[in-house]
Amino acid sequence: MDTPTQTANPTTHVNAKARALALMDPILRPGSAVAPEFPLVFGSNARGWVVVSESEGEDASACAGVVRELVAGPERVACAFLGSVVTAEAHRGRGLARHTLATAEDRARKEGAVLAFLWADEAEVYAGMGWRPAGTEFDFRLDDNQRTFLPDAEGVRAARAEDAEAIYTLYCEHEQRVERSLDEQRQLLAVPGVTTLVREVGGKVTAYGCVGRGADLQGVLHEWGGEGVEVLHVLAGHLDLRDDEGLDEDLFLMLPSGATGLLEYLSLTRCPGAKGVLGLAKVLCLEGAAKLLRGHLPSGVEACIEGATVALRRGGKSISLDADALLDLLLPPAGEGRIQRKVERRLGVTLASLPLAPFIWGLDSI
Ligand SMILES: CC(C)(COP(=O)(O)OP(=O)(O)OC[C@H]1O[C@@H](n2cnc3c(N)ncnc32)[C@H](O)[C@@H]1OP(=O)(O)O)[C@@H](O)C(=O)NCCC(=O)NCCS
Repeated sequence: MDTPTQTANPTTHVNAKARALALMDPILRPGSAVAPEFPLVFGSNARGWVVVSESEGEDASACAGVVRELVAGPERVACAFLGSVVTAEAHRGRGLARHTLATAEDRARKEGAVLAFLWADEAEVYAGMGWRPAGTEFDFRLDDNQRTFLPDAEGVRAARAEDAEAIYTLYCEHEQRVERSLDEQRQLLAVPGVTTLVREVGGKVTAYGCVGRGADLQGVLHEWGGEGVEVLHVLAGHLDLRDDEGLDEDLFLMLPSGATGLLEYLSLTRCPGAKGVLGLAKVLCLEGAAKLLRGHLPSGVEACIEGATVALRRGGKSISLDADALLDLLLPPAGEGRIQRKVERRLGVTLASLPLAPFIWGLDSI
């Protein structure tokens, strides 16, 4: 389907997937292909979509998007994941990527997305378009020293197609995740460049871990599931596999803040690591974000939309937050709580259930 939108200039098409890929492939994956890496956008019956903008009668700029449900403990938030933003070289510097992304944001908003996420190597390109670093992830480097603490890789083997259901069950046990169907889980595990190992004990898969994903996340264990110690066996399996393949570089491990057992273990074993930013994000719907915030305000604090801001009031005290400040309050970058402290001080309250702690596992980024 190729539906031109009402945008006057430049002309924009939503869901022109073949046309989007013709722009994306040579820029993002020269000699290779974008589509197999993003089955939730480009797979058959995928719910994701693309935006293509024309300039001077040619397809000039494109991006991909999909609206997903973020699960962060009891909280569920509709979020857009946008990515693969490109403009053909001859058309760069004329505001086309800005226009294409704005069209994608409108589309996501219509689908009910409250927030949007995007992953980019060059964050500064997107800063002027309203995207800010947001959320928290932990990244650890499993160096040689770390190996000495790990159990061996007993019971660890390459995942097979029939493991998908067990893997999906383990994935769904995460309190911080993005909702997926079993079919989507299967498609994500089949993305080229993903190496998945499982640990099997007594005929049951007790843990899994995925390294790599297409051209991205090579050398990174970006998705795993299972109880802490079970995951350590899988980690050991991936390290052994790297040895077998003659790969010298250290393996990296990504974790959410809720992986407290593993985080404690890594800290006790002095594994080098740091708190990082989850991605770039943006508030797409101020009312939706205000509603989300209201669920985390103590009684007596009101949140009302006033123009382009959300005004928080308690008695005679008030503070106004624009979309950026609201994002910082809900999802501060790497857990930095500057805006939260400011709000708490101004209103004289404690926002005990903030910030939100979503996590987006590597297979879901686009
Ligand atoms: C990045 C890219 C999409 C920008 O496309 P574009 O159509 O030239 O961008 P626009 O003209 O809409 O510019 C939008 C903003 O980004 C800024 N920008 C664009 N390219 C930039 C760069 N290389 N470095 C820093 N800022 C940049 C512009 O200055 C502009 O900001 P402003 O309006 O505040 O001045 C394009 O250069 C590209 O395809 N690059 C290669 C692929 C890539 O890296 N994609 C990102 C994958 S997520």
